[in-house]
Formats: sequence, C-alpha cells, structure tokens
Amino acid sequence: MAPVTHKPLLHTVLGQRQERPPIWIMRQAGRYLPEYRQTRTQARDFLELCYTPELAVEVTLQPLRRFDLDAAILFSDILVIPDALGQSVRFATGEGPLLEPLDAKGIEGLDRDRAMSHLAPVLETVRRLRAALPPEKTLIGFCGAPWTVATYMLGGRGSPDQWTARKFALEHPGAFEKLIDVLVDTSIDYLAAQFEAGADVVQLFESWALNLDDAAFARQVMEPNRRIVEGLRRRVPNAPVIGFPRGAAGNLRRFAEATGVNALGIDFATPVDFVRQHLPAHLPVQGNLDPLRLVVGGEAMDNQVRAILAGFADRPHIFNLGHGIVPETPIAHVERLIALVKGA
Ligand code: CP3
Repeated sequence: MAPVTHKPLLHTVLGQRQERPPIWIMRQAGRYLPEYRQTRTQARDFLELCYTPELAVEVTLQPLRRFDLDAAILFSDILVIPDALGQSVRFATGEGPLLEPLDAKGIEGLDRDRAMSHLAPVLETVRRLRAALPPEKTLIGFCGAPWTVATYMLGGRGSPDQWTARKFALEHPGAFEKLIDVLVDTSIDYLAAQFEAGADVVQLFESWALNLDDAAFARQVMEPNRRIVEGLRRRVPNAPVIGFPRGAAGNLRRFAEATGVNALGIDFATPVDFVRQHLPAHLPVQGNLDPLRLVVGGEAMDNQVRAILAGFADRPHIFNLGHGIVPETPIAHVERLIALVKGA
C-alpha cells in the first residue's frame, strides 16, 4: 500500500499536534485578491462562478499560489443549497445575498430530488482540485449548517439578529422542523459526495449560532449539526469534521460534546483562556485572529498572533481567523501573518 502522505492540517483535525500549527484563512479566495476580482468578471454572476468548475478551481487555487497555506477550501457558497432546492437566490453587488423568503407553503415546495444534480458542477470542482493539489495540501469541503442556512432562507437576507427565522422557529415548529429535516438530509448527501470526490475534511459553517437561548441553541444549532455528523459518518466512516458555531460562547463545550465534531472553530470574541479552561486539551481548535487585526497589521496584529500561538501551543491547533477575511485586507499583511505562524 502506498504510504499515506502526511497532511499537517488534516492530521491536526484528527488530533495530532504539529510542531508549528498549520494555517488556512476563512474566505481565503476572495475580493482582497486582484486575481480573484479579475476571474470574477468572467462569470455573469457570483453563482455562475460557483457552478463553473474551470473558474471555481482557478479561484480556489489562487491564494495557494501566493501564500504558503496548508489547505485549499472548495470555492462555493453556503447558499448553493437553497438554490439547489429551488429557492430563488441572487447575489446583488454590494448588498450580499437576496433570497425570495420562504413561508410554510414554500417549505413544502422545496425539491430535494433536484438538489444533487444541480450541485454536480461543484462536485466536479472538488474532483479537479484533488487532482491539481499537491498531496500534502488538505482539501476542505464545506456546507452551511442548517440553522445558518435557514436564517437566510426564512429572512431572505443576512440580518443582525436573525429575528425572522427565530420567530418562525417558535411560531411554526412543525414547518420549521420540516425545513431543518430537508437541510440535514441534503447536507449529508452533499458532504458525502464531497468526500467521494476527494475532500479530506469538511467544515460546517454555523455563522449565526448566537442570539439563542438554551432550548433554541439545542434544537436549532446542536441537534442539526449532530444529525449531520452522525448521518455523514454512516456514509463516510470517520469523516473528519470541523464545526464552527460562531458566537456559541458558553455553549462551545456542549456543542463539541453533543455533535461529535473532530475540531472546533473558535470565533475571535472567544478568549483564548476561556478555551484553555473549558475545552478538553485533546480537542483540536481552529482560530481565532480578529480579521480587523489583519487589516491593520503591525503590532496590533503581531501581538495577538503571538498570544494565540502561545495560548494554543500545548494542544492540536490550526491557525485561522475568527471569521472571514475582508476585502480591505492588504496582501502584505497576509504574507506577514503566515511568516509569523510558520516561524520565519
Ligand atoms: O472561504 C473560501 O475561500 C471559500 C468560499 C466561501 C465563500 N463563502 C465565497 C464567497 C465560503 C466558505 C463561504 C461561506 C459563507 N457564505 C458563509 C459562512 C461564513 C461566514 O462568513 O460567516 C456565509 C454566511 C455565506 C453567505 C454569503 N455569501 C454572504 C453573506 C455573502 C456576501 C458577503 C460578501 O462578502 O460579499 C456571500 C458572497 C460571497 N461568498 C463572496 C465570496 C468570495 C463575495 C462575492 C463576490 O465576489 O462578490
């Protein structure tokens, strides 16, 4: 049997601490890169970019050509699932995503049968990426976690407090469960297919795990993530999964225990010391630099990078931001960040 190539990032997710933490950057392919903005003009709109394997492979690889990153993340979006289920999704320039908001009747009309054929181009992108990447680079697949995706499907757009979706979950529990069921089942199919196409690990983006009381957190966040991990591992035994419940705060440990994820993404508002005190030392963590420090650079960045490296030095740690990189980020600061993390 061929020796298994050591992939520092994958092996960290699996619990093996590395000499230096591996690094990737959430939203590492994006508008802060001039070559991304250039390729973006070749697609009519953002979803076409996601569904054109040639272009999606190109933008996925762009950050790895510039920087010594340990992973590529599939270029796509969490909102391809609502699109694949037949909901109208558009990305208006400067406004973020706009969806035709769903009501109870709309939930009945979601069409799971068409979802996987609609997503076939994304899986083709994964296959091409696996073939193009050097074996030591980890390929990360992903999807949005059901609650986060549901907030966009019900609210029609991003919102600071997820009011529409939180209210719907309480007022229409039956319809809400139906929506979560569709999203759990579709996500399992989609993630299993990403592994079959060559992904090494997947991340579940639960970007809106905040503003929820105990019972809502358990029902809307923990339970759907748990069901995905369980269902996925029935199809792909031991599938490595990174959970990222952004804003989970005091619920982080409960989330890790209930869902069975291998590793936990930590947002930047969660203190390093809190993680040290409350999460078991064997649990791999990923994070957690404030993206704003990467924009500003200098001491504002360097000192916090050193604090994060020192705070997580005794456990499996993947260096990352605590949320996505923003378009204002200077490329020189990204180079500096990677040099610091790699110890150069
Ligand atoms: O990380 C990567 O490089 C892979 C690609 C990726 C994108 N979106 C590309 C993208 C990933 C993993 C995502 C995840 C995503 N998408 C999340 C979860 C992570 C998070 O940030 O909380 C969410 C909530 C979305 C939904 C979404 N997509 C929003 C809110 C927006 C608009 C905000 C923005 O930055 O414009 C998008 C659009 C989007 N997704 C862009 C990119 C590169 C920018 C679109 C463009 O080129 O105009």
